[in-house]
Amino acid sequence: MSEQETILNTSRQREASPDAKDCADAGARLEPVLAGPLAPIRLGDVMVNTPVMLSPMAGVTNWPFRVLCEEYGPDGLYVAEMVTARALVERNPKALRLCRFAPSERIRSLQLYGVNPSIMEQAARFLVDNGMMDHLDLNFGCPVPKVTRRGGGSALPWKTDLFTEIVQRVVAVCEPANIPVTAKIRVGLDHEHETFLEAGRIAQEEGCSAVTLHARTTAEYYGGHSDWCRIGELVSTLDIPVFGNGDIWGAEDAIAMVNETGCAGVAIGRGCQGRPWLFGNIGNAFAGSDVRINPTLGEVGRIIMRHAELLTEFYDGDERMAVHDLRKHVAWYLKGFPVGGSTRRAFMECESLKDVREQVDALDPNIEYPERVVDQPRGRVRFAKKVHLPYGWLDSRTTTHEERERLFGDDPMDASY
Ligand SMILES: Cc1cc2nc3c(=O)[nH]c(=O)nc-3n(C[C@H](O)[C@H](O)[C@H](O)COP(=O)(O)O)c2cc1C
Repeated sequence: MSEQETILNTSRQREASPDAKDCADAGARLEPVLAGPLAPIRLGDVMVNTPVMLSPMAGVTNWPFRVLCEEYGPDGLYVAEMVTARALVERNPKALRLCRFAPSERIRSLQLYGVNPSIMEQAARFLVDNGMMDHLDLNFGCPVPKVTRRGGGSALPWKTDLFTEIVQRVVAVCEPANIPVTAKIRVGLDHEHETFLEAGRIAQEEGCSAVTLHARTTAEYYGGHSDWCRIGELVSTLDIPVFGNGDIWGAEDAIAMVNETGCAGVAIGRGCQGRPWLFGNIGNAFAGSDVRINPTLGEVGRIIMRHAELLTEFYDGDERMAVHDLRKHVAWYLKGFPVGGSTRRAFMECESLKDVREQVDALDPNIEYPERVVDQPRGRVRFAKKVHLPYGWLDSRTTTHEERERLFGDDPMDASY
């Protein structure tokens, strides 16, 4: 262990969770059919008619991707990737780019990350004063070591005074402008250090309109299966809506989560990588329809091309940046299709829209969506090697003066997943 930080031993977690989804009474598992259409969620004055959220993903949920998702599911909530509060306060151009929206986006939803209540308040003030959003989510779920070792993301709810102050100060800025604030949390640091029920209660008391629970601990990172029972526990504890999050890969998973936990809505992360149409499928399921979209390779090619064009707009006409950003999406879009290594490599080597067009045109448009990847897991899946925390973090549930000085002197600019 470094002298500068506390490290949690995560080995016990590794054994604990591979099938955590199953609640104690899973024998009573319900069929993936809803009793009726799912009710809209009201976040202050913002109505989320289809209670499904695109969970923020750094490097993924910029406006081009959100636009594609919203085209399939026009009534959900599509949250931008997290923006670092300090970067916003310093008017960092990259951070400002992340706060842009397409004209078609119905609810302009941002997520803020930070550990310093004053900087969080200033960032919220800047966003509110410039009319830059309709909804603000606060990130208390990030498990990445460079974030948690500074007390941020999923490490933060452990310090209840800091958590309370951040929520309080941001809500105080947003409430008068009718901007609903929500909080995104995890179960805790590990199972010996759970924080979600208390964090949920504080968020509710301090004026949050909803809470999203990613039902894993920091130690569990993205490994095993999320523990949906914890979502059910939070639902029974709170009066505000809870968005359940973790391991929804298809519409039937979304229904199962609602049935098993009673959550008011669901949040989708990795499941929509390369599958923006998942929001159409979930919208259909929540409306009681069994229509499901599984596009042919021709349609997927059309989406890839459109994604490339939107990214070019996002990068102010810089095609090279756009097609580089597109690479990870292409890998997800083509997952499971019988497309050879040379074609995949050619996509990775594209430097312009013309290059992408050539590769898209060369795809066989008639190939059906591969059955074996329909509604199957994708994206990162590993456990944390270690949970990194600021030195002495676990000694107390509140911050000392020295801890605050150490934390706030070094607010990271480049916190990212
Ligand atoms: C690449 C990637 C980036 C992420 N970035 C963020 C982020 O910026 N803010 C956040 O709150 N969560 C972030 N997450 C977590 C997701 O929003 C979501 O909570 C998590 O992936 C669990 O949901 P899933 O099982 O549907 O993927 C990220 C996840 C991934 C895989």
